Amino acid sequence: MSESITITDNRTGKSVEIPVVNGGVDMKAIQGLMPGTWILDPGFTGTASTESAITDLDGINGILRYRGYPIEQLAEKSNFLEVCYLLLNGELPSAAEQEKWVHDVTYHTFVHENMRKRFMEGFHHDAHPMGMLMSGIAALSTFYPEAKDIDDPFNRYKQINRLISKVPTIAAMAYRSSIGMPFNYPDNELDYSANFLSMMWKIAEPNHVPDPVLAKALDVLLILHADHEQNCSTTTMRVVGSSHSDPYSAAASATGALYGPRHGGANESVIHMLSDIGSYEDLGPFVESVKAGNSRLMGFGHRVYKAYDPRATIVKEQADKVFAVTGKSPLLDMALKLEEIALNDDYFKSRNLYPNVDFYTGLIYQAMGFPLNMFTVLFTIGRMPGWLAHWQESLEQGQRISRPRQIYTGVGVRDYVDVGSR
Ligand code: ACO
Repeated sequence: MSESITITDNRTGKSVEIPVVNGGVDMKAIQGLMPGTWILDPGFTGTASTESAITDLDGINGILRYRGYPIEQLAEKSNFLEVCYLLLNGELPSAAEQEKWVHDVTYHTFVHENMRKRFMEGFHHDAHPMGMLMSGIAALSTFYPEAKDIDDPFNRYKQINRLISKVPTIAAMAYRSSIGMPFNYPDNELDYSANFLSMMWKIAEPNHVPDPVLAKALDVLLILHADHEQNCSTTTMRVVGSSHSDPYSAAASATGALYGPRHGGANESVIHMLSDIGSYEDLGPFVESVKAGNSRLMGFGHRVYKAYDPRATIVKEQADKVFAVTGKSPLLDMALKLEEIALNDDYFKSRNLYPNVDFYTGLIYQAMGFPLNMFTVLFTIGRMPGWLAHWQESLEQGQRISRPRQIYTGVGVRDYVDVGSR
């Protein structure tokens, strides 16, 4: 059997045989056969937009690997900054490389004072922290205009370093501002996740050292969110980067894509959904209304995973550890029961709808004290290395500017009519 497909253009009788490589075919061959004929694929469900060596995702078999390393091993044995290095560089760091990387990230966590005094304080008191973070990331491009020099690898490293270092600082700043509390400066004695928690929660104590179980759980959740190949926000990062924007502008755009409830906003929607259902007795009728198409079961379903999301299993383990420290969330039992009902219902089974990573992350974040509007902010911190790894890879690939085509369905040509005659 030949590992290829043959396409015939019946208008001309011409055929082309295209090799199947890694499960895909190169569309350029089809376009060569049928110039001017477009391939319609709304939502890109069947389109590979790029080749990539970063994340291997097999949705049928529930497999997720970063640079070949299974997500389960990374969640158990690695830490977020090491995973950042792995995603960005393709290999785990040596001891010396790790020391330098951790040092570089730790010593770039501060932001320009104008960022806090003039920029963050300018937002309305009830501004959503995700809007503040997105704007803050975009604003960084004005502090580092040299970021436009995207062809220089050392310059690229500096901006990548800054983005990974400063995003938690801006995120914590957005939260503190939203509750009217003074901003906490980074604590360079703490590791990445603990420092973020310290900037979030420190009140009057000279040093705030977060509970190590909670800091570790956050670190694991950041690892789980660090990359997920060509998802909506990563595609945005690549598309914007393809116009050779600076990385802050591209990352701000990706943050905007993540903000939506069908992507990064899903864990917030899960808590809203569980709170709205109200009681155990209402779970059955709620599931029926989902099946009738009145709403969606948030935290269920995934464009790529058609089996259990491997990240959801790891999140459930972390949930047990976190709840042992914080006490159980009253919504947890509702979530467990809802999962059980859905997993045994033909509607969900026949459509391969299983819990995704976001079904339980919101419950963990809530138990740790994060308000709902910070959930997507946490996702942004986690996803930043993935976005940057893809941005860097696309530049190294010399990616052409992203410019899809369309099938025009509007009216044909017609003559302009003066307003008085319409
Ligand atoms: N609840 C109920 N029904 C669903 C759900 C859901 N969560 N998800 C999909 N379906 C149904 C659809 O109605 C459709 O049914 P039909 O064939 O009878 O029309 C079928 O399953 C296929 O759904 P699509 O919308 O085609 O799936 P798609 O791949 O486009 O959507 C998505 C994926 C957006 C994640 C969807 O499953 C969803 O909205 N889930 C809830 C939101 C969510 O949890 N998002 C987080 C994703 S993970 C992340 O971004 C980190």
